[in-house]
Amino acid sequence: MRSSAVIAGALVPVALAAIAPKNFIFIMPDGMAPASSTLHRAYESMLDGDSRVATDQIPVGTVMTHSFNRLITDSAAAGTAFASGYKTGNGAIGVLPDGQPVGTIWAAAKHAGFLTGLVVTSTVNHATPASYSSHVLNRNALGAIAEQQQGYSGILGQKVDVLLGGGRCHFRPRGTSGSCHDNDVDLFAYAQEQGYFVAQNRSRFDELELGRAESHNLPWLGLFNDGDLSYEIDRQQQPERERSLAEMAEAALNALHRASHCKDKGYFVMIEASRIDHASHAHDSVAHLWDVTEYYNVVELVTSWIDQHTDTAMMSVADHETDGLILIGYGPRPLQGGRHSIDYLSSLWSRYSGSDRRAFLTSEILPAYGLEDATGSEIDRLLAGNFAGNLASIISSSTGIQWSTGGHRAVNTTLYAYAAGDMGAHLKVDLAHHWDNTGLPRYIEEALGLDMDEITALLRANGTDWIP
Ligand SMILES: *[C@@H]1O[C@H](CO)[C@@H](O)[C@H](O)[C@H]1NC(C)=O
Ligand SMILES: *[C@@H]1O[C@H](CO)[C@@H](O)[C@H](O)[C@H]1NC(C)=O
Ligand SMILES: *[C@@H]1O[C@H](CO)[C@@H](O)[C@H](O)[C@H]1NC(C)=O
Ligand SMILES: [Zn+2]
Repeated sequence: MRSSAVIAGALVPVALAAIAPKNFIFIMPDGMAPASSTLHRAYESMLDGDSRVATDQIPVGTVMTHSFNRLITDSAAAGTAFASGYKTGNGAIGVLPDGQPVGTIWAAAKHAGFLTGLVVTSTVNHATPASYSSHVLNRNALGAIAEQQQGYSGILGQKVDVLLGGGRCHFRPRGTSGSCHDNDVDLFAYAQEQGYFVAQNRSRFDELELGRAESHNLPWLGLFNDGDLSYEIDRQQQPERERSLAEMAEAALNALHRASHCKDKGYFVMIEASRIDHASHAHDSVAHLWDVTEYYNVVELVTSWIDQHTDTAMMSVADHETDGLILIGYGPRPLQGGRHSIDYLSSLWSRYSGSDRRAFLTSEILPAYGLEDATGSEIDRLLAGNFAGNLASIISSSTGIQWSTGGHRAVNTTLYAYAAGDMGAHLKVDLAHHWDNTGLPRYIEEALGLDMDEITALLRANGTDWIP
C-alpha cells in the first residue's frame, strides 16, 4: 500500500528510530528549491560577508517527492505523504486515491495525549496544514477543512491546540463582513465556546506575550489576515506588523512547553513557511528571498530552542520545488532595494487613478521594487500591460535569476534534522538515507511511540460518508 504507482520498487528505508524524544517539531518550507538556499546565501554574504545558513550543519538525507500518480506532486499529496505516510493523488487531503481516510501523525499524537500545533503563513486550511488535520477528497473544500480543524465536524472531534496563520474569512459565518465561508457556521464563536483563546489581530495576540503570559493557556486560535499572511517583505513595512512566522513559532513553543513539561506526553508541532511557494509561482525574487530568510530564522529559533530543551527533535524538508529556480550569473545586489512584493505593488498599480502613470511608476512603484534604474524600454513594457509578469522578468534579468518552468518540479529535496547531544548523533545516523516522503512520518511515529494505523481504523469504523 505504501509503495507508489509511479516509482514501483523504489528503495524506501523502513523507519527504525533509535531516539525517543518527548517532543517533535516538523518544519516545512513549501516549494523551496536547493537554489533558494544559494540565492539567500549569496545575498547575506553580500550584506555582511557571512555566507553560512542555518541548515549548514544539519543536512542528513534526500527525499523523493512524487505523488501516487504523478512525478510532480502538489502540496496536498505531498502534505498527505508527510502527515500520514501514504501516497495519494494530487489534490487529495488525508485520503487515499479510493477516498478512504488515513490517520495522521497529528491525530495519532492528539489521540495519545500529546499537545499539537500548526503554525503557518498561508491560510490555516491550506493544503499542508489541512493534510495533518482534516480529510477531504479535494483541497478546495476549504470550509470543511476549517471545520474539521476545530473539531466542529469530522469523526473524531479532534482539535488543533495551537492553530496560527491566515484565513480569517473561512472562520466567519457566510454573509457577514469579511466572510468567505460556504455556510452559516461561526467558527470563531465555536472556538470561543470550546475554551479557545481567540485572536484576530496583533494586539490581541500580544496579550499572550509570545506564550509567556501565565493567564492565557492553550488552546489558541490566532488568525491574522483574511487570506494568507503577508509576504515577509510586505510585513516588514507594516506600521503595526503582523507577527512573523518565527514569532508565532516561538509563542507556540513557549505555550506548548509550559502546558506539557510537567506531564509525560509532550507536543508535536508543524511549522510551515508556506509562501516561499507562492513567491516562486509569481516569479517574485524579492518576496522569495525574504520568505526564505524567514524560514532560516525559524530553523535558527528551533535549533537553539532544542539546545535549551534537549528532549526535543526536529526535522525539516521541502515538499517539492516550485517553478524551476536557476541562477545564471547571479548577482543579488538589485534585490537589496526591494521593499514590497509584486503582489502588493500590482494592487497598488491597479488602484492608481491619477493622470501621470509613468511618473507614478518611476517615482513610487519601481523604487519600491529596487528598480530605480529601469530602462526606458522596460518602463514602456510595464505601461503596456502584464504588469506583474514584466516586473518579475525585469528583476530576473537584472539579477541573473531564472524561473525556468511554470509549476512544481520533481527534484529531490534535502532533509535536515537536529536534536541535541547523543540524541542528535542517533538522529543523524537514523536519517542518513535517501527517503521517500512517506517514510518520514513513520519515523516520527516510532520516535514518539505513536500509532497512526489505529487512527486509520477509527476513521474508517463507520463508513466514509462524513468525508466531503
Ligand atoms: C483586535 O481584536 C480585539 C479582540 O477581538 C478587538 O477588541 C480589537 O478591537 C481589535 N483591534 C483592532 C485594532 O482591530
Ligand atoms: C532522487 O534521488 C534518487 C537517489 O539518488 C534518484 O534515484 C532519483 O532519480 C532522484 N529523483 C529525481 C527526480 O531527481
Ligand atoms: C461508530 O458508531 C458507533 C455507533 O453509533 C459509535 O458507538 C462509535 O463511537 C462510532 N465510532 C467512531 C470511531 O466514530
Ligand atoms: Zn505551489
